[in-house]
Amino acid sequence: MTRHLLEIDDLSSDEVATVLDLAREQRPRPVLAGRGMALVFEKPSNRTRNATEIAVVQLGGHPISIRDDEVGFGTRETAEDIARTLACYHAVIGARVRDHTDLERMTGALDAAGLSVPVVNLLSDRAHPCQALADLLTMEELFGGLRGRTLAWVGDANNVCRSLLLGGGLAGMRMRVASPSGFGLSAADADRVVSLGGDLELVDRPELAVEGADAVHTDVWVSMGQEADAAARRRAFEGFTVDEALMARAAPKAFVLHCLPAHRGEEIAASVVDGPQSAVWRQAENRLHAARGLLLWLVEAAS
Ligand code: CP
Ligand code: NVA
Repeated sequence: MTRHLLEIDDLSSDEVATVLDLAREQRPRPVLAGRGMALVFEKPSNRTRNATEIAVVQLGGHPISIRDDEVGFGTRETAEDIARTLACYHAVIGARVRDHTDLERMTGALDAAGLSVPVVNLLSDRAHPCQALADLLTMEELFGGLRGRTLAWVGDANNVCRSLLLGGGLAGMRMRVASPSGFGLSAADADRVVSLGGDLELVDRPELAVEGADAVHTDVWVSMGQEADAAARRRAFEGFTVDEALMARAAPKAFVLHCLPAHRGEEIAASVVDGPQSAVWRQAENRLHAARGLLLWLVEAAS
C-alpha cells in the first residue's frame, strides 16, 4: 500500500523519528534521479514551495510547481483527474489545497488505480504536516530531545497548530494551548493528540500556557482564505500577542517559534520574532531538511 502524508499521524512515532534522522543526512541517496515531483498550489507559498523544490533537486529529481489557475481544482478538472494525470509523469505529488477533502480524493483515485505515487499535503485548511516535521526537527535540535519537553501554543488552533500538536503527541511532548473562545482545539482533536501519547492542556489565557514552557509557538490570526473575517479575528485575538512580557513567563532559555509569514505587532511582537530567543530562521531552514527526509522515506517506502 502506498504511503501518503496528509496529516502527520499518517506516520507512527517510530516513522517520524526515522524521517527526522533522514532529514539530518548530509549526503542523501539520489532516489529521485530522472524522476519528478509535481507541486500544486491553490494558495500562495514561499517556504513550502522553495524548500520542497530544493529538496527534490538535492535528491536528484526535477520539481514542477503548478499554480491553481493552471489546474483548476473542481473547475477545470476534478481532484481525481488532476492526481491521475500528474501520476503519469511524477514519482511524488504535493498539493496545497483550500479543501482538505481534495487531498483525500487524490489519494483515493491513485490507490483505486493501483498507482504507487505518494501524495504530500503541502498545507490544507486542516493540516500542515510538513511544517510540523520541521518544527519537531527544530525543537529536537534545540532541546536535544522532545519527550517531556513543554511546548506552548498561543493563538488560533489552526492547521499548523493541529499538526504540531499531533506531532508533539507522537513525540511524547507536554503541550499547552491558549486560544480565545471559539478559536480553540476541538474535543475530537484534543482526544486524538492525547491518544497518540501527548500530555495536553487547553487554557483560555496565554500566560497559563506559557508559564515555564521550553518553547512558545504562534501563527497568524488570519490564515489564507479567512481574509473576509480579518477584522473580527483581530478583535477576538486581542491580548494574544506573543510579546516580551509574555515570554518573561516562559523558561529562562525558552525558544520562540513561528511557521511564518509573521505579522509583527499582531500575533508576535517584532522584538520577540527578531530577538535573541527567536528560532524562526532555523525553523525555516529546517523546512528544507525535513522535506528532503520525508521524500527520501516516502520514495523508498513507496517503491
Ligand atoms: N510556513 C509556510 O508554510 O510558509 P509558506 O506559506 O510561505 O509556504
Ligand atoms: N495558518 C496559516 C499558515 C501559513 C503557513 C495559513 O493557513 O495561512
